[in-house]
Amino acid sequence: MRIAVPTEPDASETRVAATPETVKKYVGLGAEVAVQAGAGMKSGITDADYQSAGATVAPDAASALSGADIVLRVKRPSGGEVEGTKPGAAVIAIMDPYGNEDAVGDLGRRGVTAFAMELMPRITRAQVMDVLSSQANLAGYRAVIDGAAEYGRAIPMMMTAAGTIPAARIFIMGVGVAGLQAIATARRLGAIVTATDVRPTTKEQVESLGAKFLAVEDEEFKQAQTAGGYAKQMSPEYMTKQQALTASHIAKQDIVITTALIPGRPAPRLITADMIRSMRPGSVIVDLAVERGGNVESARAGETVVSENGVRVLGQLNLPGRLPASASALYAKNLLAFVETLIDKETKSLAIKWDDELVKATALTRDGQLVNPIFQKQAA
Ligand code: NAI
Repeated sequence: MRIAVPTEPDASETRVAATPETVKKYVGLGAEVAVQAGAGMKSGITDADYQSAGATVAPDAASALSGADIVLRVKRPSGGEVEGTKPGAAVIAIMDPYGNEDAVGDLGRRGVTAFAMELMPRITRAQVMDVLSSQANLAGYRAVIDGAAEYGRAIPMMMTAAGTIPAARIFIMGVGVAGLQAIATARRLGAIVTATDVRPTTKEQVESLGAKFLAVEDEEFKQAQTAGGYAKQMSPEYMTKQQALTASHIAKQDIVITTALIPGRPAPRLITADMIRSMRPGSVIVDLAVERGGNVESARAGETVVSENGVRVLGQLNLPGRLPASASALYAKNLLAFVETLIDKETKSLAIKWDDELVKATALTRDGQLVNPIFQKQAA
């Protein structure tokens, strides 16, 4: 059984899908691992590190992929990287399948089985494979660090002989995995932290982290969580009430971090241009939802927009990729845990169990066809 770890072709992607630690485990499971030269460099891992762990280093993508039964990636491959993959191989990555049926179809036509790690069910058994959590947690942390770096004042209260610097006020909007880590990080930095969400269960979580909870707690709020634990799309009436409640609060904040998402829908709009105008010059907003349409009216993907009144709106892409070594270490562990379920330890070969709920949820292609329920839902 051969496992390939190619370099990510997207130059802005800093993460890598295997680390020396996981390579050692794959070798222990009987695999030969081929890592493309330089694949780990942006995550601080040298070719020699991979070699010491038991991998061979391939000079280019074609030779890394050659004969591989399992291909470990961060993002979905395209073009020559698909053509270079052996039919029958399993390709495991963050596939971003929504609206990308054609690109996923290319993998199917090549005869490979594509697995989308972000579709992993959030059940106890698969927690160790949950890439959304492992990466969102780091994104929440990094958002606070980036916000603090852009903010022209100190975060904690400082009492000095030359005067007192007040603690910064940080408001977290959306308290999922990223938001909870943002609250914890902002608290550790010494900020006065408040947070909001539409799911009632978040109130206790926010308070247990030492932050204050702020939300419109009406009848709709009480019903806002789906059975899967996600937020529902709120009514326009609720959104108006939420904006009325948060507007005066936002005016007094120094840093606002927005993380609100609704599965399969554009991100809810939480911060309007008027709210930005109400903030003090030098305040910072970090929009983590910018890749899904943004929570903030003026946020631009990949850019920092400075408003007329001097508020900086950060729309950085791939926040986990701004912590490449940590993000790769966790992502690689997520993949290892999943790959262990895909191989037969006796014969040391790829043996996909098609009736396993983890496989059913994440497999996008099988025998040339698109097989995932998400495609059927979209076609219906
Ligand atoms: P997400 O990334 O889908 O959304 C982020 C947050 O935005 C959520 O807390 C959501 O309620 C909030 N939001 C949506 N619309 C909003 C609005 N209009 N105003 C304010 N906030 C809004 O969420 P994530 O991080 O994926 O977590 C979703 C759920 O999954 C949570 O209940 C979490 O605890 C749960 N979870 C379960 C896991 C497991 O059981 N293995 C692992 C990770 C998360």
